[in-house]
Amino acid sequence: MTDTKKSIHGEWSSRFAFILAATGSAVGLGNIWKFPYITGENGGGAFVIVYLLCVLLIGVPIMMAETMLGRRSRQNPINTMITLADEAGADKNWHYLGWMGLIAGFLILSYYSVIAGWASAYVLKALTGSFFGADAITIKALFDDFMASPMQLAFWHSLFMLATMLVVVRGVNTGLEKAVRFLMPSLFILLILMVAYAMTFDDYYDRGIKFLFTPDFSKLTGNGVLTAMGHAFFTLSLGMGAIMIYGSYLPKNVSIAKTVYLIAGTDTVVALLAGIAIFPIVFAAGLEPAAGPGLIFQTLPIAFGNMTGGWLFGILFFVMLVFAALSSSISLIEPAVAWLVENKDMSRKQACIWSGSITWLLGFGTIFSFNLWSEFKIFDKTVFQLLDYLTANLMLPIGGFCIAVFAGWIMKQQHTEHELDMPNALSYQIWQILIRYVAPSAVFLVFLHVVGVL
Ligand code: PHE
Repeated sequence: MTDTKKSIHGEWSSRFAFILAATGSAVGLGNIWKFPYITGENGGGAFVIVYLLCVLLIGVPIMMAETMLGRRSRQNPINTMITLADEAGADKNWHYLGWMGLIAGFLILSYYSVIAGWASAYVLKALTGSFFGADAITIKALFDDFMASPMQLAFWHSLFMLATMLVVVRGVNTGLEKAVRFLMPSLFILLILMVAYAMTFDDYYDRGIKFLFTPDFSKLTGNGVLTAMGHAFFTLSLGMGAIMIYGSYLPKNVSIAKTVYLIAGTDTVVALLAGIAIFPIVFAAGLEPAAGPGLIFQTLPIAFGNMTGGWLFGILFFVMLVFAALSSSISLIEPAVAWLVENKDMSRKQACIWSGSITWLLGFGTIFSFNLWSEFKIFDKTVFQLLDYLTANLMLPIGGFCIAVFAGWIMKQQHTEHELDMPNALSYQIWQILIRYVAPSAVFLVFLHVVGVL
C-alpha cells in the first residue's frame, strides 16, 4: 500500500476540516436528545460515570483505530476490511464487519431522521410562538398531539431525509466544512446560555447537578451499563464505519491521536452541557426524568416560553439541533453511498436515491411506533425501541469489539505504529494495551453481565 493513495471521493482540505467533519458526525441528537433522556431513565450519576469511563477507555482508542483503518485503505468500510485483512494475511470474513456497519447505518438513520424531523417541526413551533408563556402541561400536550399524527411525523421525516441526501449527493467535503465551522461554536454558546438560565432555578444544584454527578450505583441495572456503553459508541459515531469513511478522506500527514482527543472531548462536553441545562428544568417543572425520548421536547420549550428572549433562543436552539443532526446523518449514510459508488458502479446521485429511499421507507417503523403501532411490541419493545437497542446496544459495540481486535491483534504492529504516528513510544503502548485488552474485554464483560452469566 503506498502512502500516496487517495480516496476517489476526494480528501479533506486540512486536519481542521477532518476535525470539523468528525465532530459534526459525533455531536448530534445523541448528545442533546439521547444523552439526557437515557441518563434520566437510568437514574443519573452512576450511569454518567460508566458512560464517561467507556468514552475514555473504549471509545477513544477505538476511534483512533477506526480512523486509522480508514486512512490506511482509503475505501469504503467493506473494501477497507477486505484490503487490510489481505495485507495482514488474515481471513476474508473480516469484510462482514463492513457489512454490519453499513446495515447499522441504515437502521440508525431510519430513526435518527424521524427524531431530527421532530426537531425541525419544533423550529416552526418556536417560530410561531407555540411555547409562549406555556406551562409543563401545555408543552406536554403539544408534544403528545404531535406524536399522535403520523402524517406530520412523516412530513418532517421526509423533509429531513431529503436535506440529508442533498448534502450527501454533493460529496461530504464540500459545504459541510463551512457549515460545521459555524455550527459548533454557535451550538456551544447557546448551550452555555441555557445552562446559565438553568442556574437561575432554586434547586439547580441540589437536584439538577446532584442528579447528574452524584452516583448511586443501586440505581444502575445491568441493562443500564449496556446502555451507557452503547451510548459511548453511538455518541462518538463508532463501530459502524462512519469514522472509518471519514478517516479514509484524511490526509496522510495528520496526527490521528491529537485529532481524536479533540473530537471526543468536544463531544463529551456538549453532552454534559445539555444534561446540566436540562435536568434543573425537569425538576423545577415537576417532570419525570424518565420521561423517555420526548424529554427535551417537553422541558426546553417551557424554558423558552418563559425566559426573556426565549422566542429567539427557542428558534436558534432547534435550528442548531437540526444542523447538528444533519452533520451526523450524512455520516450515517456515507459508508453505504461510498460502497455503491465504488463497488456497484453507480453515480453518487443514483447511490443517494437508492440508499435514501430505503432509509426513508424504514423510517415509517419508527413513526408508527409513536402512534398506530404503539401497542405492537416485540420483546416488549416498540419498533423504535427495538431498532435503538439493536443498533446502539448491540451492533455498534460488536462492531467496535471487532475493530479493536483487528487493529490490536490482526494488523501488523509496524503498520499501526506507522499509521498512528504517536508523539512517543509510551502513548503507543498505552493505546496498544487499551485496544488489545481493555476495550475488547470491557465490551465482552458487559455482554456477559447482561445475559446473566456475570
Ligand atoms: N454520533 C451521532 C450522535 O451522537 C450519531 C451517530 C451514530 C452518527 C453513529 C454516526 C454513526 O448524534
